[in-house]
Amino acid sequence: MRIVKRSLLVALLAACLHSVAQERQEYLLEKNWKFSKGEQLNAWQPGFNDAKWQKVSVPHDWAITGPFDGNNDLQNVKIVQNGEQEASLKAGRTGGLPFIGIGWYRLSFEVPGFKAGKKVALLFDGAMSNAEVYVNGKKAGNWAYGYNSFFFDVTPFLNPSGKNTLAVRLQNFEQSSRWYPGAGLYRNVHLIVTNNVHIPVWGTYITTPDVNEEKASVSLKTTIAGAGSIQDLHLQTIIVNGAGQQVAFVNTPVKSVEDPVAQEFTIQKPALWSPESPALYKAVTKVYQGSTLKDEYTTTFGIRSIEYNAGEGFLLNGKQRKFKGVCNHHDLGPLGAAINVAALRRQISLLKEMGCDAIRTSHNMPAPELVQLCDEMGMMLMVESFDEWKAPKMKNGYNKYFDEWVEKDLLNMLHHFRNNPSNIMWSIGNEVPDQSTVNGKDIAKRLQDLCHKEDPTRPVTVGMDRFDDAVKKGFAAVLDIPGFNYKPHRYPEAQAALPQGFILGTETASTVSSRGVYKFPVAFYKNKTYNDNQSSSYDLEACSWSQVPDDEFVQQDDLDYVIGEFVWTGFDYLGEPTPYDAKWPSHSSYFGIFDLAGLPKDRYYLYRSKWNTNVATLHLLPHWTWPGREGQVTPVFCYTSYPSAELFVNGKSMGRQSRNKTNNQTRYRLMWNDVKYEPGEIKVVAYDAAGKAMAEQSIKTAGVPHHIVLQSDRKQITADGKDLAYVTASIVDKDGNLCPHADNQLEFQVKGAGAFKVVANGNATSLEPFQLPRMKVFSGKLVVTVQSAGKPGNLQLQVKGKGLQPATVTIPVQ
Ligand code: GAL
Repeated sequence: MRIVKRSLLVALLAACLHSVAQERQEYLLEKNWKFSKGEQLNAWQPGFNDAKWQKVSVPHDWAITGPFDGNNDLQNVKIVQNGEQEASLKAGRTGGLPFIGIGWYRLSFEVPGFKAGKKVALLFDGAMSNAEVYVNGKKAGNWAYGYNSFFFDVTPFLNPSGKNTLAVRLQNFEQSSRWYPGAGLYRNVHLIVTNNVHIPVWGTYITTPDVNEEKASVSLKTTIAGAGSIQDLHLQTIIVNGAGQQVAFVNTPVKSVEDPVAQEFTIQKPALWSPESPALYKAVTKVYQGSTLKDEYTTTFGIRSIEYNAGEGFLLNGKQRKFKGVCNHHDLGPLGAAINVAALRRQISLLKEMGCDAIRTSHNMPAPELVQLCDEMGMMLMVESFDEWKAPKMKNGYNKYFDEWVEKDLLNMLHHFRNNPSNIMWSIGNEVPDQSTVNGKDIAKRLQDLCHKEDPTRPVTVGMDRFDDAVKKGFAAVLDIPGFNYKPHRYPEAQAALPQGFILGTETASTVSSRGVYKFPVAFYKNKTYNDNQSSSYDLEACSWSQVPDDEFVQQDDLDYVIGEFVWTGFDYLGEPTPYDAKWPSHSSYFGIFDLAGLPKDRYYLYRSKWNTNVATLHLLPHWTWPGREGQVTPVFCYTSYPSAELFVNGKSMGRQSRNKTNNQTRYRLMWNDVKYEPGEIKVVAYDAAGKAMAEQSIKTAGVPHHIVLQSDRKQITADGKDLAYVTASIVDKDGNLCPHADNQLEFQVKGAGAFKVVANGNATSLEPFQLPRMKVFSGKLVVTVQSAGKPGNLQLQVKGKGLQPATVTIPVQ
């Protein structure tokens, strides 16, 4: 493989030099950046003195270190989409973090191998936001939207030898976002050095027009830049399977430098890509001029077919399936928006264990690392672009950029992610108010047509909330896939009114809950708030516009033409603390199936019991430590994949419950609503359809907090200075029972081959910084994230708290 990816360290220049002879080098600009918050006159000039600036590594989120403050982006707004009639002060809407304002980054760098006849591209995976990029004092370009990837040809600005200065100015405006967007160079920055004749960034487009188990056709279109004439130009591509074996080869003389070069391949007995079996191939393309190799470019792809049709809905490789999806925001909880592969991998693993097979990148372009991981790990993706078009949701939202930028933004997204097999549809928008405008449907058509032009293989959707307008004004009829947000009760109406013949739940549920918190009496509520700013984990609370999970399940199960759902959300995220939007200190969401620390809430087991058909689920709630509730009704729910179960309280049977169609909840939950609390033990025994006892689970009343238990998600981590282990710390009594009310403060110390990175407890009201090595547990738990050093060894995390026996975990770093 000739594509070299390495950190560009000026100090390590000599070490990089061996790659100079190769025809393409790709460097990650990670280390030795200087950063300063606020406007800095002349910081674009090479001679500017940045000695006093902070030294940072990129990816970097300048706002995640806080401090939290309700005055950061305090918004006096009426959230129309939430049905609000009057404006009110929203303190935590964008996370209460200081992301507003200007930030400057500067980097001194050399470009090994740069000389006449070379081209250099500077690629940003995302920069938040309004990036202005200067190389050696000359403006290389600018990009407004903070979520998109963009690149510039910086060849003309580079010094022929020696040092160069890169300066990036970013600016975030108040009232530009409905959630925490992050701030800064929060995604990777790449420098790509090629010959003058080269394949540009995102320069290949690969499709698999015919796919079956016997054989597949693969079609590759490659753009060649810088050639001028076709003389002696030819392209050689080999296709390599997952085992590294060559399975096809084509050599093609170039007939035009204007048009992409087309190459066709046939693969016998292809390994088809699916979430269950994410087989990948690589197309390795070499550009030759005569016998001189000019460039080598690798495109990773998968062989799979997707179809959406009226009779059958969605088919992957010819097989019908419904999306068991979640919507996710881009932030990684305590890491903020700064991208980290290990953090993303953990999220995908957790979702897959739940049986989830799809993610919607709500409501913006994903990090490329997420898309690559979804390809590799088997997770379908709805790649989304915008939360706003022309009609504003936010005063300073994307509406400000729409006219000038929308096509450029779409093109970059389409070119970037059209080779990824995980990507099974595009979304051009979420709840855009343009659904209600006269020309909204024309905008939808224009944007959808652009998607079709650049990628005819994937359909296009929009998450629609304005059902009546979208249907009546012809907006919904334009789309390849009519996607509705929170409208399960109206699916039949949509199906009757629309021509497509199928419906997607682009956004579903929006149930709110706080991990480990249960409220009494147990009842359905909309927009319910409590004095402690928490929501109940009995999973019966939603918003005025939203539902509890079961209400969507019923429609998914009963209506053949509904092709799946994307639950709002997989993980809690920073900002949008509904139903406490106007009640500081809440500053992160309550919608997640997992909390902000990545710990599963009870709802996880409800989805798992339905979605994960490979392993059994048996889960009881609530916890059973309720001093003061003796004799009071304390309902017990069981989320299970078994059809029936029997509950025992201190050995006394509370009867057997079976799933039944009495109402939406009894179809998916087993509920003992009249149980009276008495300390001791609750136990559930699950039965299969034949009445055979299959499994049991019990919860005991906990005694006083006694010691700490640690559990790492990884047995070992990589010595690359980036890899992470997430260690869950639980406070338990002397017998090991979780103390569900514990809120002890814990302290963390890391020794050896790594460092403490961040900590989170999933409490949406906690103003404790994520970056200090101490935090209170929430409902008895928190998660400490530790990071590997660049060298191998053992990483040791010690966790202690007053009055508790401490605990230590050792993680090998290799
Ligand atoms: C939807 C919106 C999401 C989120 C959600 C909360 O209307 O598309 O971004 O705000 O509501 O329920």
